[in-house]
Amino acid sequence: MTTAKFITFEGIDGAGKSTHLAFVADLLRARGKTVVLTREPGGTSLGEALRNILLHEKMHLETEALLMFAARREHIAQVIEPALARGDWVISDRFTDATFAYQGGGRKLERQKLVALEAWVHPHLQPDLTLLFDVPLDVARARLDATRELDKFEQEKADFFAATRAEYLRRADEFPQRFVKIDSTLPIAEIQDYLRDIIAEFDR
Ligand code: TYD
Repeated sequence: MTTAKFITFEGIDGAGKSTHLAFVADLLRARGKTVVLTREPGGTSLGEALRNILLHEKMHLETEALLMFAARREHIAQVIEPALARGDWVISDRFTDATFAYQGGGRKLERQKLVALEAWVHPHLQPDLTLLFDVPLDVARARLDATRELDKFEQEKADFFAATRAEYLRRADEFPQRFVKIDSTLPIAEIQDYLRDIIAEFDR
């Protein structure tokens, strides 16, 4: 019997999820898992090419949503499903919740269109565990400004991120069986303790 699991990391830009990806991967490896660490948009050569376009070019909102799902289709076919079939654990830095949050919440694309795309692209695949790194907008903004040159999404205004964050939180309430919310304003060491508990509980 395979125990392969699919874990996703989510949160608005500047929420700090990237800091914790390698930590969780190491926790799982220490528990004897083979871990595939990947990201969206991206994870394949086509997906990375689409990522470059998505993060830097302005486009119609529906084009953006369709390209996110096109990259995802390839990612599922080439990376996620083969890894799970081998019995590996997959950690993806973002997945479909990000499309609901950014294109649905932030950009206000009708949710039903995203539901239809999700049903087309991955009718039978959902994350087993989604770690939602949540922070107030001002904290996220301060972290972003301190660390890097901003891409297309990161240059959005506060109301965009407020709506994105709200949609993430709404989905966490809608799917409580797979979402765990993490208060990302806590010190890194405290978050790591919490992640250790979450993974121990998840992998019993
Ligand atoms: P991100 O994951 O934050 O990577 P980095 O830390 O390197 O900036 O960047 C990906 C961006 O893409 C992020 O701003 C959210 C956005 N995005 C969407 O808008 N929709 C999606 O479906 C996905 C997967 C990402």
